Amino acid sequence: MAKRPRIETAVFPVAGRGTRFFPATKASPKEMLPIVDKPLIQYAVEEAVAAGVRRLVFITGASKRAIEDHFDSDPEIASALKSKGRSGSAEQFSRILPSNVSCIYIRQPAALGLGHAVLCARPAVGNEPFFVHLADDLISAQKPCLAQMADVYAAKSASVIGCITVPRKDVDKYGIVAVEASGHTARIRLIVEKPKLRAAPSNLAVVGRYLLSPAIFNHLARIGAGADGEIQLTDGIASLLKEEEIYAYKFEGTRYDCGSKLGYLKATVAYALSHPVLGKDFRTYLRKVVKSSPPLREGR
Ligand code: UTP
Repeated sequence: MAKRPRIETAVFPVAGRGTRFFPATKASPKEMLPIVDKPLIQYAVEEAVAAGVRRLVFITGASKRAIEDHFDSDPEIASALKSKGRSGSAEQFSRILPSNVSCIYIRQPAALGLGHAVLCARPAVGNEPFFVHLADDLISAQKPCLAQMADVYAAKSASVIGCITVPRKDVDKYGIVAVEASGHTARIRLIVEKPKLRAAPSNLAVVGRYLLSPAIFNHLARIGAGADGEIQLTDGIASLLKEEEIYAYKFEGTRYDCGSKLGYLKATVAYALSHPVLGKDFRTYLRKVVKSSPPLREGR
């Protein structure tokens, strides 16, 4: 894979049904769930743009129209805000993306798995390395995670996968890698999807950040369905590993699993506490609530 100064394209697979969040996500996308005042997909896109990305490729499916609407510029919002004397907000909210960033929407015909969703991006990505970003993995970091990974790519000229260490009891929920050395960046020797604890090669788990060589597409096109009957990105990466070096990267930052309700609540509290406008009042409120341990809300 040739060395390139900038990764131009990020792929956002958003075609999953988000069943763990039903009924909230029955008719609206999981990726539009807000963390305080921004939807998850906007945090995702901002992270990619901060890493130099100019082309955003969304792999969409049923009930995902709201994502397209969110990134459209909306002159009606602008004039409504202006008429309320909020001209500053008008510019901010009517156009979410910088003008040099473009969006491409590709429909995944059926939710056949994350690997299949990434394969759907092939016509838009072409023969360049590209990011894959899963918006429900929210990562709070001083330097955005994708930008950290672009640095690793610049040093190694090879695919990079974002990883964290997880408790051993949780290895069956993740793609798990075995690496050749300790340290933040290490060459991957082996990758397996959701292994049983006994078969897990380590507790180093893949989370939703990838910088992939375009050779991945040939592998995804060849492999069949794997765990859960889906075409797994992990299996495509395992196949690519036979041909190319791939690096695991333990990024700096905190990851919140916003695909789960508990992870989503943790992210909401963390982002609310550090919110520039609400943070102070929310902290005071939270202290009071925790001290008084209120009874559960009636009707739950
Ligand atoms: P998940 O495993 O979180 O599945 O997918 P999900 O459907 O979104 O959520 P649950 O488990 O039913 O609650 C990981 C990522 O892969 C995308 C999802 O949108 C999510 O970003 N994905 C998954 C697709 O785009 N297409 C698929 O066929 C499967």
